Amino acid sequence: MPRPIEALIHVDALAHNLARARAAAPDARVWAVVKANAYGHGIERAFEGLRGADGFALLDLDEAERIRALGWRGPILLLEGCFEQRDLELCSRLNLWHTVHCDEQIAWLAQHKTHTPHRVFLKLNSGMNRLGFTPAAFRGAWARLDLLPQVDEISLMTHFSDADGDRGVARQLAVFEEATRDLAGERTLANSAATLRHGALPGAGAPRVGGDWVRAGIMSYGSAPDFPQRTIADWDLRPAMTLRSRLIGTQVLAAGDTVGYGSTFTADAPLRIGVVACGYADGYPRHAPTGTPVLVDGVRTRIVGRVSMDMITVDLGPVAQARIGSEVTLWGRGPAPAGGGAAPVLSIDEVARPAGTIGYELMCAIARRVPVSTLA
Ligand SMILES: Cc1ncc(COP(=O)(O)O)c(C=O)c1O
Repeated sequence: MPRPIEALIHVDALAHNLARARAAAPDARVWAVVKANAYGHGIERAFEGLRGADGFALLDLDEAERIRALGWRGPILLLEGCFEQRDLELCSRLNLWHTVHCDEQIAWLAQHKTHTPHRVFLKLNSGMNRLGFTPAAFRGAWARLDLLPQVDEISLMTHFSDADGDRGVARQLAVFEEATRDLAGERTLANSAATLRHGALPGAGAPRVGGDWVRAGIMSYGSAPDFPQRTIADWDLRPAMTLRSRLIGTQVLAAGDTVGYGSTFTADAPLRIGVVACGYADGYPRHAPTGTPVLVDGVRTRIVGRVSMDMITVDLGPVAQARIGSEVTLWGRGPAPAGGGAAPVLSIDEVARPAGTIGYELMCAIARRVPVSTLA
C-alpha cells in the first residue's frame, strides 16, 4: 500500500477560473500563465483545463516545447524572453513570442538569422525595478527593434508591483501611458491582481489596465491574489489543486500532555488527536503553526503541534467520528457530504497565511513523492 497522500488537479476549476479572468477583463484576451510547471499543477494537466485561453505565458523553453507538443498552435509568450542568443533559434522554430527587456536581447536579435520575423513584447520598467527598459530608454529600444528585419510586430508590456495592495496600479499605469503614448502595438499590463481589481471596462478616456492581453497566473489556480483582503469566495474562484491524505493513527491526550517535536502544543483538557500521513517532505509548510485549518472528513478543525517530515497532528475535537482511514484535506476540495450538497472548500490561502507564506509557494512546492492525478 502506498502512503495515502495524493494531489488532485481539478480541470473544471481551471476552466472556471479562466472564465473568471475573461469576465474580469472583458475586452482583453487572456494569457494563461503556466510558468513553474503551471504553478506546480503540471503543464500537461493544467493544459486540459486552460486550453480555452488565447495563449500561454511561461519562462522555460522546455515548457514552451511541452505546450507545442500538446498540439497548441496558438500564441506562446516567453515572459523573460531569451536567456542567450541561441534561444532565438527555438523561438523561430516553435514560433514563440518573446519579451525583450534589455539591450543584450536586442543585440542577439540583430544577429539572429531567420526567415520568419518575430513578434516581441518590449518591456517597460514602470517602477517594479526588476526587468525592463527605463521610461527614458524605452522609445530608443522601440526604434531599434522597429528597424530590425528580424522583428515583425512590437507589443508593449509592463508588470505591476502592488496590484494586490493599497498602493495599487495608478502610479505605474501613468508611467506606462506616458512612455508608450503614440507608440503602435498591443498592450499587456495586468497580472491576476490587476485583472481582478482593476481590469473592468473603465469609463471613456480612462487608461485601460486590462490592455489587449491580461496575464492570469495565480487566479487560474484558485488562489486569491489579495488574500486576506479578499478570498476565493469573494472572487468566485475555485481551487484547482486538492492535497489530501488520511489519518494513520489517533491518540488521546490528557490535560498537560504535549504533542510532537519540541512539545510546542500542550493540551489544557483531554483531547483526541489524529495523525495525518503528510509532512513537510510532501510540501506541507513546516512553519504552519498550531491552529492552521484542516478538514477531517470534511469538518474544519486545526493542526496541533509541529509539522514533522512525514506527519501532522490534528485536533479531532470537532470530528468525534474520525478514525484511522478518515479523509484529511490539507487544502482544496473536501469530500462531498453524504447527504448531498456542495463539497467543503479549504483554500490554499488559508493554510499559507498562518505559515507566513502565500498560496503560490505552496502549490509550487508539492513534493515529487506525492502522486498526482487529474479529475475531469
Ligand atoms: C511578467 C508576469 N506576468 C504575469 C504574472 C502572473 O502573475 P499572477 O500569478 O500574480 O497572476 C507573473 C508572475 O509572477 C509575471 O512575472
